[in-house]
Amino acid sequence: MLLQSGGSSDPFASAVRTTRMPMVITDPKRDDNPIVFCNDAFTHLTGYARDEILGRNCRFLQGPATRDEDVARVRHAIGRRESVQVDLLNHRKDGSTFWNALLISPVFDGDELTYFFASQLDVSDRKRAEEHRFLLNRELDHRVKNTLATVQTVVLQTLRDASVPRTVADAVSGRIRALARSHDLLTVEAWASADLADVVEGALEPLRPRVGARIGVEGPRLRIKPRIATMLSLAVHELGSNAERYGSLSNPTGTVRVGWAIGEGRLRFEWRESGGPRVAEPAKRGYGTRIVERVLAAEFDGEAELRFPPDGLVFRLDAPADGIDEEATAWTAP
Ligand SMILES: Cc1cc2nc3c(=O)[nH]c(=O)nc-3n(C[C@H](O)[C@H](O)[C@H](O)COP(=O)(O)O)c2cc1C
Repeated sequence: MLLQSGGSSDPFASAVRTTRMPMVITDPKRDDNPIVFCNDAFTHLTGYARDEILGRNCRFLQGPATRDEDVARVRHAIGRRESVQVDLLNHRKDGSTFWNALLISPVFDGDELTYFFASQLDVSDRKRAEEHRFLLNRELDHRVKNTLATVQTVVLQTLRDASVPRTVADAVSGRIRALARSHDLLTVEAWASADLADVVEGALEPLRPRVGARIGVEGPRLRIKPRIATMLSLAVHELGSNAERYGSLSNPTGTVRVGWAIGEGRLRFEWRESGGPRVAEPAKRGYGTRIVERVLAAEFDGEAELRFPPDGLVFRLDAPADGIDEEATAWTAP
């Protein structure tokens, strides 16, 4: 049979037979695409003897713990005669399970599909480590969240006892809440990166019930790093609460437009207010303004500018787009 009878002088057949990587070949011209070759590594991995394997479809490795959607992906690719790579849970002969990093490729002779070739790698250790890291992160996220809630209570209580003006207490509490929200967002994304639109929407959320219809947000999907997400969330929170207190959202009709675009390797982010009371340059810049201008510019490694033309405050950020996401720049949601 195939490879077994290939003669010991064929280096490729010999390599496939003796490699430590489990491999099988199936014959799609036969009924139910049965296995026509498996190497020793495959018998070791699965615990089945060769005569229990040959002639069967590979699905005999699946069991109650195998996820339907993983199998569906394989079925779909095979139906289209395409390569596919899937991690799926398989069962050994003794019933124990292992994570199988399965890679299947069709083999063509001209236009004719002759075989499917697959390699199987036991990646259970990696999967276990990933699961462990996931659980640890979740636990840590819980604790940070609880800590933030405690900080909020302690700070508010302290401010109240010290008879600090209500506006200061509100500002501090709003900032802590903005931090907690960006933390929530990053937790969902496993602290890899966050979507810029989600960060902006999250920071505006407390305003939405009151003035939501007057805030327009528009921009492409874009991943930003966790630290930038946190600072941006704080900045948008500051801009929003400022707009509601003094700016375009302080009257019944003013509006805010938040937008961003990527072009020529740069990200341009803008917050533009209009229709509010006449604006005057503030006499002194507070903490909120500092976050918006300086910290954000430094985090994005770009330039940030807060301007106060009479018809409405404008905040602009101009930063190199490559500083935004380590892995990639913009992506479009499917
Ligand atoms: C070459 C080849 C190797 C395969 N290896 C495995 C495997 O190791 N484990 C597994 O669960 N399924 C494997 N499959 C997938 C199943 O054989 C089958 O295609 C899948 O269950 C979807 O088809 P079904 O819905 O008819 O079961 C392999 C398929 C091919 C063609």
